[in-house]
Amino acid sequence: MKKLNGFKKINTAVFISGTGTNLAYLIKNSLKRNSIFQINLIVSNNSKAKGLRYGKKFKIKKMVISYKNYKIAEQKILLRLKKNKIKLICLAGFMKILSKNFIKKFKGNILNIHPSLLPKYKGLNTHQRAINNNDKYSGCSVHYVTSKLDSGKIILQKKVKIYKKDTSKSLAVRVLKQEHNLYSKAISKIYSIL
Ligand code: GRF
Repeated sequence: MKKLNGFKKINTAVFISGTGTNLAYLIKNSLKRNSIFQINLIVSNNSKAKGLRYGKKFKIKKMVISYKNYKIAEQKILLRLKKNKIKLICLAGFMKILSKNFIKKFKGNILNIHPSLLPKYKGLNTHQRAINNNDKYSGCSVHYVTSKLDSGKIILQKKVKIYKKDTSKSLAVRVLKQEHNLYSKAISKIYSIL
């Protein structure tokens, strides 16, 4: 468990590329009185990401960044994170892979949520792959980000039963529901305020 000095909430940036329902729940949970984190910045590589609307709704700063040049994009993000004194990064449906150098700079303080029971089904199409393999359970995992895709240490997982009638869509809906509070719980699990 990482100890934090004083009662200052952890300054957090959430990186998104799409709908941002995990972002919405992170914001919702961060606004609870006993939350140990606050969302200070939303970063998106996609200017059309629906999740960006939560920035406006909750008056959270947003950064939309073009990834035409990866290196420049990351440099700009790092500067912005520094400016906003960000200590924790939560990837929530962020469809770009962070470089080794970037990850090193935030060592141990980048988390990701993934829609499978890792180490099963890293990468994309997780639900269809679980159905195709006749798995009894799918689920979601919050894990540390390392330079190996979806391979960092697992912090928390939640199982979701797969029914015979499930399609990847129906399963995705049920798993996503479980993702929403798992992320905040995982943050509480790894940090404690002194
Ligand atoms: C989630 O299923 C998450 O596990 C995956 O991308 C999806 C993002 O959904 N990494 P949302 O944008 O938070 O609604």
